[in-house]
Amino acid sequence: MYSPKTIAHFSNPHNAGEMENPDGVGEVGNPVCGDMMRIMIKINDDRIEDIKFQTFGCAAAIATSSVTTDMAMGKTIEEAYQITRQDVADELGGLPAQKMHCSNLASDGLKAAIDDYLKKNDRPPLGTEGEDKDKYKTYDEDFNNE
Ligand code: FES
Repeated sequence: MYSPKTIAHFSNPHNAGEMENPDGVGEVGNPVCGDMMRIMIKINDDRIEDIKFQTFGCAAAIATSSVTTDMAMGKTIEEAYQITRQDVADELGGLPAQKMHCSNLASDGLKAAIDDYLKKNDRPPLGTEGEDKDKYKTYDEDFNNE
């Protein structure tokens, strides 16, 4: 049921672990299952030059965290902010329908880390309150449809 790439990332996660003095930290919990994730980023000239994650969750959550850090590494914060859960699932070669909600942790955690970095630098977040509401609405609707 998992793609070979998902199994590879779960078995050998990339960019897992702690980071000293991160420029931004995003911590998110999955309201569906209670799993947790933290993403830490180092930023240079608004580009992600290092990224680490710690995920307390299922195999799909760990694989999506791992591949999301690969996708975000080296991107500008604006580019990284555009990574959606569908992009993450596609990059892994697809996720089982009942596991799609797990990919929210990684993309949401990344966005939270970027917004944390901006906030610490007295800059407005890339997300807006309105967008956040829509995001969670979509999330709930999607989950209920699965
Ligand atoms: Fe919790 Fe997958 S079951 S993130």
